Amino acid sequence: MEVRVLENNKDEGKLSFILKDADVAFANTLRRIIAEEVPTMAIEDVEFRKNSSILYDEIIAHRLGLIPFKTDLKSYNLPEKCKCKGEGCARCQLKMTLKPSKGAGMVYASEIKTKDSSIKPAYDKMPIVRLLKGQDLELEATAMLGRGKYHAKWAPGLVYYKYKPIVEIGDVKNPEAVVESCPLNIFEIKDDKLVVSKDKLFSCTLCEACADADADMKIKFDDREFIFYMESWGQLNCKEIINEAVKIFDDTLDEFSDALKKAK
Ligand code: F3S
Repeated sequence: MEVRVLENNKDEGKLSFILKDADVAFANTLRRIIAEEVPTMAIEDVEFRKNSSILYDEIIAHRLGLIPFKTDLKSYNLPEKCKCKGEGCARCQLKMTLKPSKGAGMVYASEIKTKDSSIKPAYDKMPIVRLLKGQDLELEATAMLGRGKYHAKWAPGLVYYKYKPIVEIGDVKNPEAVVESCPLNIFEIKDDKLVVSKDKLFSCTLCEACADADADMKIKFDDREFIFYMESWGQLNCKEIINEAVKIFDDTLDEFSDALKKAK
């Protein structure tokens, strides 16, 4: 198995890489673990003290739940794996407060205060509600780790993959028509010859519009090579997400192996 990074944009939280010599079962297991199993921190309970804003309590609670928080996986347990058995303790829950002090104006995620400085909103400028003059908001929230399979608010990001495309250019009668046909501008004409533009091949979606423009184009894919695309929502960076996914994969296989031994 081989991995080659295509793009690692830390500022935008984006990562793409090629996974070679793998099969679809492995690629899809990795995708599902990333999307559904890697834990992140999100607000689960909200207790309102005051809310005279235009939004109902439920709507504000929903908006708070969707705020991604920087997550420290070493300091917190999932409630179901905590010693308190999910009853709630400092190892699996974090209290937060929101009490905007500046009166009228937009209330942003940055105004949420927590006792743990490592857990804070990933994006300060996420708007929660606009308060008019005389309106008030005060609440206490409880955040905890959870998984994307319980609720999308705990998903660490977006992840998908596709097969590596193979575009074979045969005898082309009308190269201009082929260039025109591709919606992703993959082709160009160089020295009167139709070629795939540098670094553009991976954008091909296998739509086969080019094959319709010229009968001698062969569009195939390599079913042992995958292009993965990831975008973090901000709780963990892409590398942390993949490392955690691999650890979960490993732990699950160990668990299966132990269960198998006991079943003998
Ligand atoms: Fe373009 Fe042909 Fe791929 S039209 S997207 S190169 S299948």
